[in-house]
Amino acid sequence: MKNLKIQLTMLLAAAAVMTACSSASKTDGKYEVVDGIIRTEVPQRPEGQKDVVGLRLDPMDSVRVGFIGLGMRGPDAVRRFSQIDGTSIKALCDKHADRVEKAQGILEKNGRQAAAEYVGDSAWMELCQRPDIDLVYIATDWNNHVPMAVYAMEQGKNVAIEVPAAQNLDECWHLVNTAEKMQKHCMMLENCVYDFFELTTLNMAQQGLFGDVLHVEGAYIHNLEDFWNAYEGNWRLDFNENHRGDVYATHGMGPAAQLLDIHRGNKMNYLVSMDTKPVTGPKMVERQGRKSENFQNGDHTMTMIMTENGQTMHIQHDVMNPRPYSRMYQLTGTEGFANKYPKSGYCFHEMNDSDVVPDHQNLSAHSFVPDEVKEALMEKYKHPIQIELEEQARKVGGHGGMDYIMDARLVYCLLNGLPLDQDVYDAAEWSSLGELTRISLENNSAPVEVPDFTRGAWNKLKGYHHYMKGE
Ligand SMILES: NC(=O)c1ccc[n+]([C@@H]2O[C@H](COP(=O)([O-])OP(=O)(O)OC[C@H]3O[C@@H](n4cnc5c(N)ncnc54)[C@H](O)[C@@H]3O)[C@@H](O)[C@H]2O)c1
Repeated sequence: MKNLKIQLTMLLAAAAVMTACSSASKTDGKYEVVDGIIRTEVPQRPEGQKDVVGLRLDPMDSVRVGFIGLGMRGPDAVRRFSQIDGTSIKALCDKHADRVEKAQGILEKNGRQAAAEYVGDSAWMELCQRPDIDLVYIATDWNNHVPMAVYAMEQGKNVAIEVPAAQNLDECWHLVNTAEKMQKHCMMLENCVYDFFELTTLNMAQQGLFGDVLHVEGAYIHNLEDFWNAYEGNWRLDFNENHRGDVYATHGMGPAAQLLDIHRGNKMNYLVSMDTKPVTGPKMVERQGRKSENFQNGDHTMTMIMTENGQTMHIQHDVMNPRPYSRMYQLTGTEGFANKYPKSGYCFHEMNDSDVVPDHQNLSAHSFVPDEVKEALMEKYKHPIQIELEEQARKVGGHGGMDYIMDARLVYCLLNGLPLDQDVYDAAEWSSLGELTRISLENNSAPVEVPDFTRGAWNKLKGYHHYMKGE
């Protein structure tokens, strides 16, 4: 065994030397080069530990939840949850007492009982220890996501974590290992997969309207100029200052990965990344009255990913420059095309949907279908979960309703003992871009393997699926 290990190490070392583009010179000793691709360490699954693909837990009578982090984002989750049947809000936690008080006001306004209060830096631990909580909902800064989620799972809780769930590969693996060890749900709160256009397009793709899906795109392009100073303790600009790579990839990744059935019969094999120099980033630091000598995050980062099933993904990140908001969201298939920004629309090679398409003359494979055809298509292919939740989603809101659908689906799946729409492997895969892109960038855009966080279970499920009661 030891000999085999030595031989393998030598082989890998030889491969590293022979591979022109992949000296991986800035490694921290944790990755190697195999067939020209930088490969990061995949920790072995501990003996006796099982994967959590398609995890089903006992149905709950009520989802008893505790919230940690009540800054800009957290209170709206409290508001949404207080309007979802089958939930009981047991506890609220923030470092600041006034934020907890404010959230109590939200409960009162919505006719809910006051929740227990946890205030201070480490009060969240006591919240996680409460025996009457099923779900810990984490909306703190990124540094706290994984320590809190891991501790909560170790206390036997399910967890929902704001985006991105994890900041680096170690944290991704820590989430995966803890969810597997404890057999608990660990969902990242990626809301953009529930936007109406994305949901409808996913449904259309699953029904074959676009033929073979070949290429998908997604992004987070959002000028955060007006927000930087609002984050508690400046955590967000600090993180960008200290980290190169696509540090906020999940809004683009989520919808793109669902279209390609990632770890449900497909997987991401490797990525390459390129970024611009940081120009606006350091200026944002200077605007805060400090000098930034070595700002890490490029103003614009682009990443391309190759999948096992021969498709490509293109993901972008720019939170610095004056651009209209965009998550790109684009799909190219052999029979059709979908695009969301700046103009949402569909284009088809041939369309035989006679109840939708009144006038075939209007269709051409070179341009978007007319708006009335797009509207009719979106109505006909409305996703079943949208049909069920749309009215309430529009009423409760939260980014146009997608935040409500996300929370309502999480509650629905827990109440009915169903696998969640997003599992811990999604959380790890989509969050892992942060460090994987950094490694590529630091090695002249060399290809970097996207680890199989399921450790061999990526082909167990066939196709992405939203579970419904009775399944
Ligand atoms: N999905 C989305 O559309 C979306 C939108 C905005 C923010 N977010 C995510 O939500 C999270 C929070 O962002 P935000 O804008 O609210 O940040 P924020 O800085 O406004 O709020 C973070 C809160 O966490 C609290 N906190 C920090 N450490 C704590 C501790 N030890 N114990 C208890 N509370 C603690 C802070 O006091 C603060 O109130 C981030 O992960 C962010 O990426 C997601």
